[in-house]
Amino acid sequence: QTIYLKDYTAFGYVVDSVHLTFDLAPNATRVTSRIAFRPNPDSSDRAFFLHGEQLSLMSASIDGTTVAPDVTDEGLTCDVPDAPFIWEAIVEIDPANNTALEGLYMSNGMYCTQCEAEGFRKITYYPDRPDVMSTFTVRINGPEKVMLSNGNPTGSGDGWAEWHDPWPKPAYLFALVAGDLVNHPDRFTTQSGKDVELNIWVRPGDEGKCAFGMEALKKSMTWDEQVYGREYDLDIFNIVAVDDFNMGAMENKGLNVFNSSCVLASQETSTDMNFERIEAIIAHEYFHNWTGNRITCRDWFQLCLKEGLTVFRDAQFTADMRSGPVKRIADVIDLRGRQFSEDNGPLAHPVRPDSFQEINNFYTATVYEKGAELIGMLKRLVGDDAYAAALDLYFDRHDGQACTIEDWLAVFQDTTGRDLSQFKLWYEQAGTPRLSVSDAYQDGTYTLTFEQSTPPTPGQPDKAARVIPISVGLLGPNGDEVHATQILEMTQSRQSFSFEGLSARPVPSILRDFSAPVILDRDTSNGERAFLLAHDTDPFNRWDAGNALAKNARLSMITDGAAPNADYLYALQKLVRDDSQDPAFRALVLHPPSQSDLAQSLFDRGITPDPQAIYDAAETFAQTLAQTLSDSLPRLYADTTVPGAYVPDAAGSGKRALNFRLLSLLSRLDGGEQAARQYESANNMTQQSAALTCLLSIDKGTEQTQAFFDQWQGDRLVMDKWFGLQIACAAPDTAATVALALTRHALFDRKNPNRFRAVMGALAMNHAGFHHASGTAYVLLADHLIALDAVNPQTTARMCSAFQTWKRYDADRQTLIRAQLERIAAVDTLSRDTTEMVTRILDA
Ligand code: ARG
Ligand code: ZN
Repeated sequence: QTIYLKDYTAFGYVVDSVHLTFDLAPNATRVTSRIAFRPNPDSSDRAFFLHGEQLSLMSASIDGTTVAPDVTDEGLTCDVPDAPFIWEAIVEIDPANNTALEGLYMSNGMYCTQCEAEGFRKITYYPDRPDVMSTFTVRINGPEKVMLSNGNPTGSGDGWAEWHDPWPKPAYLFALVAGDLVNHPDRFTTQSGKDVELNIWVRPGDEGKCAFGMEALKKSMTWDEQVYGREYDLDIFNIVAVDDFNMGAMENKGLNVFNSSCVLASQETSTDMNFERIEAIIAHEYFHNWTGNRITCRDWFQLCLKEGLTVFRDAQFTADMRSGPVKRIADVIDLRGRQFSEDNGPLAHPVRPDSFQEINNFYTATVYEKGAELIGMLKRLVGDDAYAAALDLYFDRHDGQACTIEDWLAVFQDTTGRDLSQFKLWYEQAGTPRLSVSDAYQDGTYTLTFEQSTPPTPGQPDKAARVIPISVGLLGPNGDEVHATQILEMTQSRQSFSFEGLSARPVPSILRDFSAPVILDRDTSNGERAFLLAHDTDPFNRWDAGNALAKNARLSMITDGAAPNADYLYALQKLVRDDSQDPAFRALVLHPPSQSDLAQSLFDRGITPDPQAIYDAAETFAQTLAQTLSDSLPRLYADTTVPGAYVPDAAGSGKRALNFRLLSLLSRLDGGEQAARQYESANNMTQQSAALTCLLSIDKGTEQTQAFFDQWQGDRLVMDKWFGLQIACAAPDTAATVALALTRHALFDRKNPNRFRAVMGALAMNHAGFHHASGTAYVLLADHLIALDAVNPQTTARMCSAFQTWKRYDADRQTLIRAQLERIAAVDTLSRDTTEMVTRILDA
């Protein structure tokens, strides 16, 4: 059953207040609801339908009189008065057997909830839609030591706790947590002097992993006050770490629930990347308090309204806390890897979709990351001051409301007077625009001519031209900037822009800072790219020039059997040895392009990618680079080894990232001797896992793998790394075998999403291993998707995207993959989530 944006209508009733009482019991939790409804003056629809799934209805009444509603699998209908009334119901639910991890469930003996998007209907009967907002009062009865809900605590005693959330909210922001928890406490004073209690709640034993998250929270609170003028609005802010969680984290009002992998951190157990990600996710969820909670979405088609904006805000935060250019480059690598493959395959959908079957399938890179890119483009087009003014107007005008993309664009139109109807196409049209460019120079005038086109995507054969902000600068022949960065505003399918008064033909630096999420197609020489890598003043484009060289070098190895490009090797060598350059930047330039990206590039050039050939080219290139650098590798490795205490900041992690790249090259020459020494001496997980990765990648490290297991078997998050690394580093012909063996390991637990993803996600990401011609990896993944679907549809459906690029490959592989997709589709109890994903992937 498909739901359409165009069919939106308001709910016929307004909810004035919600009172919930929970009597906790693992297999029979009783939920008593008392809800004040009244007819919605803005709606003439008087049908009274409440969502409800997997609930046992014990009793229901209206204004104290027992009623007998019509109950189906999806909810209930009932005759109600045409005046305000009180609805009361008692239902029973079974948290201990809730393996879907949606609604109220148990994780490691603790109760927790996940209601976004439509999980509240598994807790009680309710109009479970984001445009129905109400205040909530919650009483929890149970033997648990700690019992939390949204808002402020209003009382507690032996066996009970009460909470009141004064801010009207949709049901998806409801949360309840109860269990034997301990807290890491702190306090924060807001700009206006309000004192806020802060806590991170964890299972006993994890107290030592909270300090970093707490600092990140306080930084986020300060940053949102300083940059967006947004203050926190309750007396208390609680964060809880949960081991079994389908996603990263959830912004429930005043009670954020986190996948423990996204909040717990210590130097011994977390890598630099973990630390950075934790800081970003804490910020993301905290920022939702304004962009998501105070201003929420009218319906789930508007998901990008809160997610795109909040991702954009957390990226700004990370850029401010760490390095702006490094964050931007990392984000574009991620966007090209995940969002571009979505946008150019069977799962392509607009940033604001116009239909869906299961909304959980639309928490995607397109909605989140491309959604954030749209905010960035808007900011570029209107300028920083107008952006700030528009955001002030947004908070002012829409506080307490459930809004749409139209509302969002209107604040920009009203602030700037600019017509944004063409910009809106970015929200409505799926697919990545291709931007091609040609240039001409004559008599001091340089002209760039751009053409844009977007290939068809499912349901959208034709695309109109969009407005594209193209950030351009010009460099003179000796490398100095002769025209500073300027935003060209392209609005036509084909358009030229001229620069006058130049004394020589310049070298253009186009799409600086990745000013628009497009594929730039420019026929240019490797020489010009090397020039930009050496001289561009824009760090993103400097890196991107190197990235293009890296890709070209591998592509010509694959298509022409060429040797690794000597000019590029020389440029790399120079850069790596240049100590005046930021180590993080050098690490990024040394980071090889992903093999999946190379496969897509070949496909785009009309060549069927051979995953084994791509892998071989990557290996040969790395081997040659290691040999080229052999004289200086030991010195460079030693110089980039960070001395002293471990600090997970930008400077330290940049250096360690470069050190890791150097160690991986060195390991190809010394047979892993240095890596083994690093493994022995490492006092932090970044260096310990880097050493193990280097060893596994050269088919060594058996001893260290065992030692790692012995040391960390009691730590679930570190064990996820242990599972993942072995598969990620496996050679193409062993990846599936290694993964299969690990699925039979005593600690493999399919029900834990982190563990499932550690194994199956790593297999899907090992490009040549997953696409090995035998097809065994396809079968293994399908086996596990089928098994997991009965347990946890949401995580199953997300993992199906491993197959989304299947049309890139040769006929034999397509046949193998199709057989697995059809095998999954044939399961007669298949969930709605997985059915939708598999159908969309197959239908392409
Ligand atoms: N709103 C959360 C976030 O972005 C994501 C939760 C989504 N959960 C889900 N089951 N779809 O921070
Ligand atoms: Zn979010």
